[in-house]
Amino acid sequence: MTHSDHQRYRRLLIKFLATSPLLGLGLAYCSSNDTSPAPVSNGNEEIDEDDLYRMINTIEEAINVFDFEAVAKKNLPPAHFGYIATGTNSDETLKANRAGFSKIQLKARRLRGLTKANTSIELFGQNWNTPIIVCPVGSQKAFHPEGEIAVAKAAKNKNHLQVLSTVTTSSVEEVALARKAPIWYQLYPTLKWEQTLEMVKRAEDAGCPAIVLTVDLTGGSNRETLQRYVRLDTRDCNVCHSPPRNQRKPMISSFPDFDFNGNLDWDFVQKLKSNTSMKVLVKGIVTAEDASLCLENGVDGIFVSNHGGRAEASGRSTIECLPEVAEAINGQIPIILDSGIRRGTDIFKALALGATAVGIGRPYIWGLAAFGQDGVEAVLDILRKELEMVMLQMGTPGIRDINASYLI
Ligand SMILES: Cc1cc2nc3c(=O)[nH]c(=O)nc-3n(C[C@H](O)[C@H](O)[C@H](O)COP(=O)(O)O)c2cc1C
Repeated sequence: MTHSDHQRYRRLLIKFLATSPLLGLGLAYCSSNDTSPAPVSNGNEEIDEDDLYRMINTIEEAINVFDFEAVAKKNLPPAHFGYIATGTNSDETLKANRAGFSKIQLKARRLRGLTKANTSIELFGQNWNTPIIVCPVGSQKAFHPEGEIAVAKAAKNKNHLQVLSTVTTSSVEEVALARKAPIWYQLYPTLKWEQTLEMVKRAEDAGCPAIVLTVDLTGGSNRETLQRYVRLDTRDCNVCHSPPRNQRKPMISSFPDFDFNGNLDWDFVQKLKSNTSMKVLVKGIVTAEDASLCLENGVDGIFVSNHGGRAEASGRSTIECLPEVAEAINGQIPIILDSGIRRGTDIFKALALGATAVGIGRPYIWGLAAFGQDGVEAVLDILRKELEMVMLQMGTPGIRDINASYLI
């Protein structure tokens, strides 16, 4: 068989797989990219799908946020890429997060004479250019030497709110300095209250106006995909991960004897509230019942989040959780939705269903791992532009104009 015969058979096979309803489904689940190769239908045998969807070499080539994932995968050791990619169990919730957005269709209105869309929002009295928040992601120096500092500089240049993880590889003081504006601090409490309080006070002193208590990992998380990637990694992980524990995590490195507190309850929320002047948000709320309890307990805002499909394998997407949560909250406090946001249309759907803002995790981390600070900025630009475009297409001049009447 000649090389061109081989290419032709391969193309035919790809076309068959892409159009077969059963096999096609399987293909779609192989990748987090929702732009997996479509069959080339113009009869031009010179075009190879691999060329159409080949990995980008420069930021300028990026067409969507998924383009950064392949570069991140190429740049990172398998274990580090696996840490980003993993969900829990067979990644069913991770996949559900994307599928949830696909189930919702948009109803566009025409002839509204719009030439500009205003994507700005207000959150706790502060204005932001877009509703896109940079979610807390731990260990960012594992993805790029400048880690959280590169992200802070990108967030500064593009004016985005950044939420810093407890397991950050740069301290809250350093990141706040690089961001040159207040950041929010995400809290994983430790078993010892005085250690937790020390982190809270450091965040306060660094000027954080809000603290985000993450509550969705208290029972543990079975990260099978991570374990599979770790098996592929030939490096000696002990070189970096050897004791003393968490030496690279400046917010917890001074607690030699710590453990994260898995015993969180509403009393803890009260205790946190009464020990800080910062706004207290709770991250990981997925039900109306807990949303109501957040209101009863004086929580200032919530993240509808399943930790990007890394909490329990519920199989339920956050966009499907949002309507019941939004109904319970009834506009009383801000709702930030994260997990699975990859497109301007996803942002639009979340806002239409009651979110005040949205959070992204993996997309900006792919950008970071691919091209550092510039990659993060490019990801933020792409999402903002996609949002602007869908707002213009839908006929919604501002974020407040977006509502459920634009959805099916
Ligand atoms: C590699 C990785 C690390 C994360 N680390 C944290 C963390 O330290 N604290 C936290 O509250 N959430 C963490 N998250 C969850 C994110 O804040 C966010 O909820 C999630 O990534 C959003 O989903 P997405 O990745 O599909 O955008 C992490 C997510 C990823 C992918």
